[in-house]
This record gives sequence, structure tokens and C-alpha cells, in this order.
Amino acid sequence: MAITDILNFHMLPYIVFPAALAIVFLLRFLRQSDSQSAATSPSLSPENEIVSLRVYPVKSCRGFEVKSAQVLRTGLDLDRNWMFLSAETREFLTIRANSKMTLLRTAFDADTNQLSIFTKQHEIKIPAHPTTEWLQNNTEIAKARIWGEETDAWEYHISLTKPFSEFLDMDVRLVYKGPTPRVLRGCGAPKLLGRTEATKFADMMPVQVASMSSLKELNERLVREGESEVDIERFRPNIIIRGGAPWVEDRWKVLRITNSHGKPLDLDVVSRCLRCHVPSVDPDTADKHPRQPWNQLMKYRRIDPGLKFKPAFGMLCVPRAEGLVEVGMKLNVTAVTDDHFFINPMK
Ligand SMILES: *[C@@H]1O[C@H](CO)[C@@H](O)[C@H](O)[C@H]1NC(C)=O
Ligand SMILES: *[C@@H]1O[C@H](CO)[C@@H](O)[C@H](O)[C@H]1NC(C)=O
Repeated sequence: MAITDILNFHMLPYIVFPAALAIVFLLRFLRQSDSQSAATSPSLSPENEIVSLRVYPVKSCRGFEVKSAQVLRTGLDLDRNWMFLSAETREFLTIRANSKMTLLRTAFDADTNQLSIFTKQHEIKIPAHPTTEWLQNNTEIAKARIWGEETDAWEYHISLTKPFSEFLDMDVRLVYKGPTPRVLRGCGAPKLLGRTEATKFADMMPVQVASMSSLKELNERLVREGESEVDIERFRPNIIIRGGAPWVEDRWKVLRITNSHGKPLDLDVVSRCLRCHVPSVDPDTADKHPRQPWNQLMKYRRIDPGLKFKPAFGMLCVPRAEGLVEVGMKLNVTAVTDDHFFINPMK
């Protein structure tokens, strides 16, 4: 008995000191992880910061991220300047009709000022900012149909587009937007906007802005129902902000992009972006999910009184001027409205 008492007494320091040490380390660790989470908390990472910029040079094909871009009246530089059309009907082609389009990748080389378009086996290179003279020498001016409207387009030679016809399993042509402006319709029509603006081959408006926090809220709903999260790329936005409260963008009316140098750039938010089934197509595989995120969006995002049977994600904007936009810049909301009302541009 006496021996064990002595042993216990002598062993006390071996138990107390390590325990005290462990507590000190634990406290220090907790304090550190506290300050780390503070660094990523909303107060220190402003919600209106631009976190990503995306450009999709060829309508419905895979786009890419850029660190900076020139905002033009017609949209971000290079964005939707090209599209594929059916050789037979002269109608524009999108992921809606042929989901394999999303497997056509694009890349821009600033050094050579060239745009590359890739199938799995082929790469074609064309000038990214072709002059009228180059277009006259190398393409033919033709007609193209997009959303029930006829517009002019520079058509590339069939020898150049052959790999794409083979890849997409249909006879297609590649065209570059011709000189005649595609004047905005619907909510962007001159009468409503108060000035005449145009876009290249975007569906409706020059620029789409989206919020990561709204995507996060959507993804939380998807995960709760046992579905997979979706990437922001599904929605094909151009300017992506971190976002504060989800869906506050529903009421945006005027946005201002500010940078430390240069003038602020204002954009009119003309309408919500109402969605078709394109976000259900996985851009990596071209597989179309039978339900999501469509079903989830339909449950709670049919919020626009102008078109109740389509869900809203992202906001469609028309720049008031031109200028540079960079990741890290701030996007301020300078006016909001309760009057957004989608007007079908086909009418
Ligand atoms: C266009 O063709 C003309 C005549 O062949 C040639 O002189 C000119 O350099 C060409 N321009 C371009 C930009 O290809
Ligand atoms: C934009 O918003 C930030 C904070 O949200 C503010 O500090 C800044 O002054 C605003 N800039 C303009 C031009 O309104």
C-alpha cells in the first residue's frame, strides 16, 4: 500500500505538467483558428467584390475566366461575338438543341490576339479582333437567324468549320457578328431604356451579373435533397460577385463598378435572367440532368410577374459606358426597384 502511495505522489508532476501544457496549446490553437475565421468573415471580405469574370466567345460553347476585361456597350470584349448556325436553316445553335456544344472549348491568346476553338481532336485559330479588311478577305457576309430575328454575320469558310460539323453531327457554319447592331428588345428596347443599345450574339442583353451567395443558397437546397451542387458556370454569367444576403440582386436597378483608378462604370439592370433547361447540362460532360437544378429553381425562384413559368437566376445589364473591369473591383448597387417585369423580347 505504502509503495503505491509514494509512486502516485512522485508521478503527480508527470500528469499535471503535460496536462497544463496541453491546455495552453489548446487555448492558443483556438485563438488562432478564431482569427482565421475572422479573416474570411463577411465584414472583412466585402460582399460587393467582383470575384470572377467569365467570357464565352462562341455562343453556347465553353468559355473561360479572365482577370480583367474591357466592358463594351455590347458586352464584355469577345463575349458571344461568334456563334454556330445550322447550314440548312440558318438558325442559331445553342446547348438547348445540341448539348455537345458545351464540349467545344475556347481560349484567347493575348500575345497573338488569336481565339482558339477546340474539338476533342482539332484546334482552329482565328483572329480574336478581326478587322473589316480581314473579314472581307477571309469570310463572306451572310444572313443568320437568332431568336426569330434576321441579322448579318461574317461566315467562315466551310473548310474551317468541317471538324465542328463532324463533332456536332450536323452541318454547321461558324459566323462572326456583322456590322449591323442587334438592337436590344424586350426590357432593353430603346423606348424603355431611354437610349438605343445593341448586343452581339448574347440571348438578350449585353452583360449578366450573378452572386455566389445566391448560388450557395441554391446549392444548400440541392444538397438537402440529396442532389449534387452545381457550379456557377452552368448559368453562364459574365460578372460574379461574392454577394451578401442571397437573392438581394432581384431588386437591383443600377450598378456602379468602381476602381481606384479611372471613372466609375454604370450599368442599368434591365431585367432578371429567366432560365431554360441549359443549367441542367453539365459543362464537363454535356450530360443533361433530368431534374436539377431546374426542379429546385422552379420551387422557389418563379418570382418575376412578367413570366411566371420560368425561374430567375442572375441579372441582365446594359452598360452606360465602356471601361475596364477587374477581379477585386467593387460593384455598388446605386438604385433598386420593385418594378422588375420581364418582357419577352420575341414580341
Ligand atoms: C486583303 O487582300 C488584299 C488583296 O489580296 C491584300 O492586299 C491585303 O493585305 C489583305 N488584307 C488582309 C488584312 O488580309
Ligand atoms: C461602394 O461601396 C463601398 C462599401 O460597400 C463604399 O465604401 C464605397 O464608398 C462605395 N463607392 C461608391 C462610388 O459609391
